[in-house]
Amino acid sequence: MTAPAHDISLVVNGEHVRERVDARTTLVDFLRDTLELTGSHVGCEHGVCGACTVRVNGTVVRGCLMLAVQCDGMRVETIEGVADTGEIADLEQAFIARNALQCGFCTPGMLLTAQALLSSTSMPSRADIRAHLAGNYCRCTGYQAIVDAIEAVAATRASVKAAAGEDAPK
Ligand code: FES
Ligand code: FES
Repeated sequence: MTAPAHDISLVVNGEHVRERVDARTTLVDFLRDTLELTGSHVGCEHGVCGACTVRVNGTVVRGCLMLAVQCDGMRVETIEGVADTGEIADLEQAFIARNALQCGFCTPGMLLTAQALLSSTSMPSRADIRAHLAGNYCRCTGYQAIVDAIEAVAATRASVKAAAGEDAPK
């Protein structure tokens, strides 16, 4: 039996997209297979590993747990779009500098999850970082270097903000 199809209209990485999708198509499959945005990965497909992490209306979500039809009218951002804006350039550099990635399978999800943390908490502790990343699995690194990279970026961003505050006109 053919699954029912739906027309959806959404904004992906700043571009308006209109597509017809099967009701059962997950967001991450839609992004990868229809839009060819393959930076979001598919691991467990059960909401456990975080490889499929994307942002929907600014909130980090599991792309394997949302259906594409649920994103009708919404704003979706993938690692490609977020990286293109330069928003996470410092995180990307820190991951490279500290060898916080090996195979890279988890990295897009890690970066988006780390950015969500640093957007809400300016100086998270290492325990905070580990707790926030608890839903993102990495099979390669042992996490230490990932926590190091995020901690370093948090410190740099905090000092840049502090300097900007001091330099701001009174
Ligand atoms: S593939 Fe979505 S959480 Fe693992
Ligand atoms: S770098 Fe390989 S899974 Fe994290």
